[in-house]
Amino acid sequence: MAPTDETAPPREGLPGPRRVSTRLASLAPSATLAVDARAKALKAAGEDIIGFGAGEPDFPTPEVIVEAAAAACRDPKNHRYTPTGGLPELREAIASKTARDSGLVVDASQVLVTNGGKQAIYNAFQALLDPGDEVLIPAPYWTTYPEAAALAGGVPVAVPTEESRGFHVTVEALEAARTPATKVLVFVSPSNPTGAVLARAEVEAVGRWAADHGIWVLADEIYEHLTYGGRQSFSLPVVAPEVGDRWVVVNGVAKTYAMTGWRVGWMIGPPDVVSAATNFQSQVTSNVGNVSQRAALAALTGDLSAVAAMREAFDRRRMTIHRMLNDCTGVSCVEPEGAFYAFPSVAGLLGRKLGGRPVSTSTDLAELCIEEAKVAVVPGEAFGAPGYLRLSYALGDEDLVEGVSRLATLFDTAE
Ligand SMILES: Cc1ncc(COP(=O)(O)O)c(C=O)c1O
Repeated sequence: MAPTDETAPPREGLPGPRRVSTRLASLAPSATLAVDARAKALKAAGEDIIGFGAGEPDFPTPEVIVEAAAAACRDPKNHRYTPTGGLPELREAIASKTARDSGLVVDASQVLVTNGGKQAIYNAFQALLDPGDEVLIPAPYWTTYPEAAALAGGVPVAVPTEESRGFHVTVEALEAARTPATKVLVFVSPSNPTGAVLARAEVEAVGRWAADHGIWVLADEIYEHLTYGGRQSFSLPVVAPEVGDRWVVVNGVAKTYAMTGWRVGWMIGPPDVVSAATNFQSQVTSNVGNVSQRAALAALTGDLSAVAAMREAFDRRRMTIHRMLNDCTGVSCVEPEGAFYAFPSVAGLLGRKLGGRPVSTSTDLAELCIEEAKVAVVPGEAFGAPGYLRLSYALGDEDLVEGVSRLATLFDTAE
């Protein structure tokens, strides 16, 4: 007999268990994907929408990578499963690329190829967390971290950062959030959604603090090549070797090579953790698409000229959006230092009326932006930061100027 759950809401008068598990019933959908999907659907329906929602470069994947994938498609050997951990030559290439780009020296056996950086994060939490283990997540945070940690039984703990300090996480804030149950710190620099890039000394200090307390570090390095104004990203296990082997690095080809749709990422870590995550993945998704892995191999064994060109465009857009947002009524925006996001405060607009309609929260404001200005932005609530908006500036220059101009016109109606 199926048990009935007395706490479940009535289900159309039928007895029986919940239709959707408690675990997934409480899972929030990805707000960034939802905003992007809505913008794309409205565009497809003929609306003149400008989308600042998606975290994906507007550039096509470089031709040499596409060609390698096309050739791979035609070779029947790539029509088969690969080992769960990934093609051996891709794992080797990831190890070499990691040493080249961040100075982290690892063996190919420490690499697990995943369906994007997102699955790497999910796998890492599944491998590291027991029920009740706390995960420190500097806020504003990328919307996936707390959900992925909670799905693994962990308890996400937001660690506040300050706008006045460029949203850089500090050891003081981490220490204030630490408890005996703290197991993992999520470390991401450059950050989504704030664009914060920590200086070497700051990364060292965070690493030393983690080492002192035996805390694992999940270092998300997906935006490693997107830093501006002379800033540089630093791999935490490299600049803070005190963390020993208590780290997992997450990365992927999505942002560096404009390959968001190909779904190739990876996690790197100590053998026992990577082996556990590989076993897990073998039961969940087996391997990443063979052809996508071949494309990633071409990307990683090539040079970094494509990302250099994208970085130049993003830097130009970054300066434009930063200036234009700060010129908008009720908006203030810290300078984004990396990635491709601006994260302005809209506190000056809340509690007012725009176009005659009351705006109490940044969620209200984002709704108004799409309805009235036909501009898609993600509300700060999705990142644990009400009172802010996130705008991706990985869109064309003209669209960017037009989109922020529309926002400026809407915000000028504030009363
Ligand atoms: C901070 C961060 N990490 C990881 C990812 C994962 O990217 P993907 O799964 O496309 O490789 C993203 C994507 O937006 C991100 O912003």
